Amino acid sequence: MPFPAQRPRRLRKLKGLRDLVRETRVDASQLVAPIFVCDGKRVRREVPSMPGVFQMSVDVAVEEAQALHQLHIPGAILFGVPPKSRKDARGSEAWNPDGLVQRAFKQIKRQVPELVLIADTCFCEYTSHGHCGVLNADQSVNNDRTLRNLALTAVSQARAGADVIAPSGMMDGMVRAIRGALDQAGFTDTAILAYSVKYASAFYGPFRDAADSAPAFGNRHQYQMDYHNWREGLREARLDVEEGADMVMVKPALAYLDVIRRVREAVDLPVCAYNVSGEYSLVKAAAKLGWMDEKALALEIVGAIRRAGADLIITYWAKQLARWLK
Ligand code: PBG
Repeated sequence: MPFPAQRPRRLRKLKGLRDLVRETRVDASQLVAPIFVCDGKRVRREVPSMPGVFQMSVDVAVEEAQALHQLHIPGAILFGVPPKSRKDARGSEAWNPDGLVQRAFKQIKRQVPELVLIADTCFCEYTSHGHCGVLNADQSVNNDRTLRNLALTAVSQARAGADVIAPSGMMDGMVRAIRGALDQAGFTDTAILAYSVKYASAFYGPFRDAADSAPAFGNRHQYQMDYHNWREGLREARLDVEEGADMVMVKPALAYLDVIRRVREAVDLPVCAYNVSGEYSLVKAAAKLGWMDEKALALEIVGAIRRAGADLIITYWAKQLARWLK
């Protein structure tokens, strides 16, 4: 046989042929957009370290929800950014029935009922100390007392209209505690998207600006995972499946594609990947300097996350991607 019999380039020659043999795809229907909700009226405040991302008052968040729906983005994940005056040691504003995200859920549900509403269920945006739960005397986070507050918060978010509860604080037993509380309150159909495999990561830097949630002291190493570990990630994911999660998440995404792939193979639930703030801001900064092409990079990044095995992706590029992918 004349060499080479196999010429893989044959299938790369025509755009149509490349399309036909493409193995994974990205489209708007796989994307979830984050929304940061703050106090006030007509507020739309850009996050300095995240160009193109805004804190929005409830009225503006409703318009954002409409825009997402028009772009065929099926879901939004909401974060509350209360003023300092409403933060306390427990983060009790998180379960205030009239809190920012609760009000946003109510209004969005009324005006854009088709949009899937996801609640980030955690306390770091609500506590005066910026940690993800109640503190012990030695300033470590008390897991089991935090579970009680997570249950209260999840029920209040579901009552306000959240379709999916997404606990992000890496407390042990958080999925079981939330499932039990939701069921007891009658929210048996409210789903849980567990931030199962969440690493202690420097890639969250810009988010902590956006959500005003940086810890006042110390770090999150006692509850978030060590990035050197992947077996531990599988254990976390399996535990959340046993506890009743409906979907599991790996976070961050880009530096953790190996973990996404392994979780994809270990569990049969949908796998979500969070393309986090630092992954976004790195590209934004490089693009601003004229060093790299934002559109090409964003498409390649979400393409790689899908190829690694993620079914859905939370990304700050959601709206731009929806337009680029049209
Ligand atoms: C915690 C939470 C964080 C992110 C989502 N939920 C921050 C943290 O753990 O410090 C980070 C998201 C991002 O960086 O885009 N409520």
